[in-house]
Amino acid sequence: MTARHPHASRADAAMPPGAPAIGVRIAGCGSAVPDTRLTNADFERMLDTSDEWIVQRTGIRERRRCDPAKGENSRTLSTLALRRALENARIDAGELDGVIVGTVTPEMLCPSNSCRVAAAVGAGTAAAFDISAACCGFVYGLNIANALIRSGSMRTVGVVGCDHMTSVMDYTDRRVSILFGDAAGAAVLRATDDTSRGVVAHAMHADATGWADLYLPRSKADFPPGETPTDEKLNRLQMNGQAVFKFAVKTFGDLIQRTLDSAGLKAEDVDHYICHQSNARILEASRERFGLPEEKLYVNIQNYGNTSAGSVGLCLDELWRAGRVREGQLALFVAFGGGLTWSSSLWRI
Ligand code: UT7
Repeated sequence: MTARHPHASRADAAMPPGAPAIGVRIAGCGSAVPDTRLTNADFERMLDTSDEWIVQRTGIRERRRCDPAKGENSRTLSTLALRRALENARIDAGELDGVIVGTVTPEMLCPSNSCRVAAAVGAGTAAAFDISAACCGFVYGLNIANALIRSGSMRTVGVVGCDHMTSVMDYTDRRVSILFGDAAGAAVLRATDDTSRGVVAHAMHADATGWADLYLPRSKADFPPGETPTDEKLNRLQMNGQAVFKFAVKTFGDLIQRTLDSAGLKAEDVDHYICHQSNARILEASRERFGLPEEKLYVNIQNYGNTSAGSVGLCLDELWRAGRVREGQLALFVAFGGGLTWSSSLWRI
């Protein structure tokens, strides 16, 4: 048996045998990206960088960027993605019992994006709350919504992951700004009598000893010891890329292994690895570690960059609309991000 992570606990769990009397199905998916593109050639004009460096080190070729002049932001992208997921599911928004939005770039802190999104799609008085778990927002949301449905508290829940990362970029910082773009991904989850469907194993973790490797300071008091606070850095993402890279390569692989162990499965049993798109090299390391064929680990970072909480739902939607995710298959969602946080959600579709 694989050694468990020191923090492994009930946060790493397979569903207890016989417990769920209700299954959960993914009824429909949606996503939204802005039309405006930010290409590597654009960065070559703005910064001391090159298409070659960016492609080799990250796999990214272009990203999408909200246009504030058109009123685009994380609220509008989330609304569009959830509306598309509801249409795809052929479910009326009035049937939603809950709307959960994972985001660290909400339009405002109060009201939450989820409240405005619920109102915009026509979800009546459905419960609505945001999750602040950085790039893990969507995967945390899948696990929370699954638990709410399995417990009988809710029947239909809209889960959205969305970030407006270009609003928190310092476009003079070539180490960070070339990585991020804007996107939203959504899924509508619904109760089903088929109890085999839904989350079969999951993990949700956080460890703030590494918080200073990835943070978004709002005041000069927010900077960690050793950093010089400046006005220019306020509301601009600060990242120690190398530290996050090392954390991610190890955590991604270990998280996949522990989730498979919890479910008593082997890597080859899973049909789809739907992973946070942070760097093509991080994804490739996991693919190699588990000997996965390319078609099992979806990669679209070349088109969108790292879209934080948006990325996993966006991947799911692209796979879903291509008809590649089918009933009965196993799909493992995996993410890591600021906090530091990391999470998995293994689904019987
Ligand atoms: O969602 C989670 C959030 N974050 C992540 O997942 C990020 C994880 N980290 C990474 O993806 C990588 O660390 C980066 C892509 C951010 C950086 O790649 P790296 O291979 O770790 O580069 P590095 O930071 O070690 O820098 C190597 C060199 C440095 O030059 P010197 O000091 O060796 O002369 C950098 O100044 O590359 C330079 N460099 C660049 N050069 C051209 C850094 N950024 C750029 C750039 N263009 N955009």
